[in-house]
Amino acid sequence: MSSERLSVIDEIAVVRQRVRAWRTAGQRIALVPTMGNLHDGHLALVRAARAEGVRVVASIFVNPLQFGPREDLANYPRTLEQDRKQLEGIGVDLLFAPSAESIYPRGPGEHTRIEVPGLSDILCGASRPGHFIGVATVVCKLFNIVQPDLAYFGEKDFQQLLVIGRMTEDLSLPVEIVGVPTVREPDGLAMSSRNGYLTAPERVLAPALHHSLERAGEALREGRAAAEVEQSGRAALEAAGLRPDYFAVRRAADLARPERADQDLIVLAAAVIGTTRLIDNLRVRRGGLHDRSD
Ligand code: PAF
Repeated sequence: MSSERLSVIDEIAVVRQRVRAWRTAGQRIALVPTMGNLHDGHLALVRAARAEGVRVVASIFVNPLQFGPREDLANYPRTLEQDRKQLEGIGVDLLFAPSAESIYPRGPGEHTRIEVPGLSDILCGASRPGHFIGVATVVCKLFNIVQPDLAYFGEKDFQQLLVIGRMTEDLSLPVEIVGVPTVREPDGLAMSSRNGYLTAPERVLAPALHHSLERAGEALREGRAAAEVEQSGRAALEAAGLRPDYFAVRRAADLARPERADQDLIVLAAAVIGTTRLIDNLRVRRGGLHDRSD
């Protein structure tokens, strides 16, 4: 770990130069892409990367292309100096925090886009049209700038993780995508920059999202049908004072609706509390043969 001050690099050419020098010295590179306002979930990504003994590049970029017109782009928390200090403390080797102009010189609307069809249009993609196009485009661009061997993403954004995995595979990008388990508050709430939007009474309600997923997991393991579990999940969220967007039981590999024989499942939920939309998920392995039919 270096004891040097971590500087904020905003120029693509400087990133390329530093990465090239590491590569020439035979070092491997990991990228941890973020939108900043870092919490322990982000730091877990950096720790996982550091454990590989590679050079770690973190990026902070609040990507306008992944926000819808009525979403929180303008208000999204920007805490660069605080983030820089955290990344310095945890041993990040390079912090790339580009301006929107350097990533989208002609403006986000004029930029070439990358779309992973199908996977991008369901669940969060159905509620946030264009969101995953924005994510895939900026992540592909970051991959091209940094050219990492490894890239780390949180499993809280499970659909995002699959979209990025598919994009990487489809475009034959030589990057290994690593998913890192969700970090939770002691009451079960998944860590998220958007938790900071919650008022004190809303924060009390928020763990209901995780608890509803845990109950769904138990029900699936007991052999209950996916449709029934989804219905109970939505009802549980409503009863807890949340407005469910979706509550879905899916196959973990591709987010398709599960067949009776599928055992590796994931329950995904999105719900609004006040004006804040939160997402979470729970991976569930259920026994195959004695399940009731879905
Ligand atoms: O998960 C995020 O913070 C963002 O979607 C990402 C992957 C950094 C792309 O902007």
